[in-house]
Amino acid sequence: MKAAEVKLEKVGKRYGDLWAVRQITLHIERGEFFTFLGPSGCGKSTLLRTIAGFLIPDEGTVYLDGAPVNHVPPWERDVGMVFQNYALWPHMTVFENVAFGLRERKIPRDEIKDRVRQALNQVDLKGTEGRRPSQLSGGQQQRIALARTLVIQPRALLLDEPLSNLDAKLRAEMRIELLKLQRDLGITTIYVTHDQEEALALSTRIAVMESGRVVQEGGPREIYEQPREKFVAEFVGKSNLFSGTAVRAGDGMIEIETEEGLRIQTSSAAQSCVSGAGERVLFNIRPEAIELLGAGEKSTRINRISGKVTASAYQGSFIEYEIESRGRPLKANVINPKGKPLFQRGDEVAMVFDPEDVGVIRG
Ligand SMILES: Nc1ncnc2c1ncn2[C@@H]1O[C@H](COP(=O)(O)OP(=O)(O)O)[C@@H](O)[C@H]1O
Ligand SMILES: [Mg+2]
Repeated sequence: MKAAEVKLEKVGKRYGDLWAVRQITLHIERGEFFTFLGPSGCGKSTLLRTIAGFLIPDEGTVYLDGAPVNHVPPWERDVGMVFQNYALWPHMTVFENVAFGLRERKIPRDEIKDRVRQALNQVDLKGTEGRRPSQLSGGQQQRIALARTLVIQPRALLLDEPLSNLDAKLRAEMRIELLKLQRDLGITTIYVTHDQEEALALSTRIAVMESGRVVQEGGPREIYEQPREKFVAEFVGKSNLFSGTAVRAGDGMIEIETEEGLRIQTSSAAQSCVSGAGERVLFNIRPEAIELLGAGEKSTRINRISGKVTASAYQGSFIEYEIESRGRPLKANVINPKGKPLFQRGDEVAMVFDPEDVGVIRG
């Protein structure tokens, strides 16, 4: 399988006066699974269509394998795009749908047969050749759309929210299938989604977008564990954000006093952005980093906030608690609660957590 390297240099696209995408510069390596993640309307589809060649950028340059392609039409870019609504032809059989791009390319009949068979095998849909799209489930239609794109052996695969029309269970299954297929094929894949779980699970790298711009780019763990912007911390995963002032720094620790008057310690090793006492900081504690104890229960963990349970949602593998402390709601997820007491609404509790789990977003 071919695999392209994609480079964007200050790419922007506007509709009238509105810049849907602005100043995007990044480098997608061969074989990567690169995801643009952001809320609806942030410019993801516009950017993907610009990479595919359906839109011409109003500023900057798109490069494929080092060559500028701004004015190369989509069909000459040798990239494959899968649309959210699949865009299968209802009057054609599965075979004809998948073979379409090969016929257009005047591939010999025998080779078409072989390649369609191989593509259908890849998406695990052997034997559906004679059916029409309407005789297939949503998940199967999705896979046909994928096969139809893979069969032309594009040098990059572009996918615009390909799983968003599927129900939750199927979406999770397809996610794993897509992950395995992409890693097996090694095809450069550019993926667009508003679903942070999908982005974390599938990607080798993620660019988080807000209002047409990339606000942070990095591997899934980096994006989740070290968000550098408030927007990223809130959009990717659940968060407990605090603002405050560093009151003491030294001995590998920084002590912060929050606006609510809470004293919280963070280990300074990971927080190079805080230079000393007096500095304003914004920090985040992920709900799963918090351990919940009964009000009087002791712990060796350094940070402790007391509060009252205002909601508890049982989710099977974890319990999602909302706890109010000094007038503000906080989230704590207790993973695998087997054998531990379950707290009830109204219970007085203590939230304890380690300094290493206090992530400073900016100093
Ligand atoms: N064809 C268009 N004409 C005018 N505005 C558009 C068009 N397509 C998208 N937009 C606007 O551009 C912005 C980005 O849209 P889009 O790229 O579709 O975002 P996303 O895919 O992240 O939801 C939105 O404000 C949207 O309303
Ligand atoms: Mg879109």
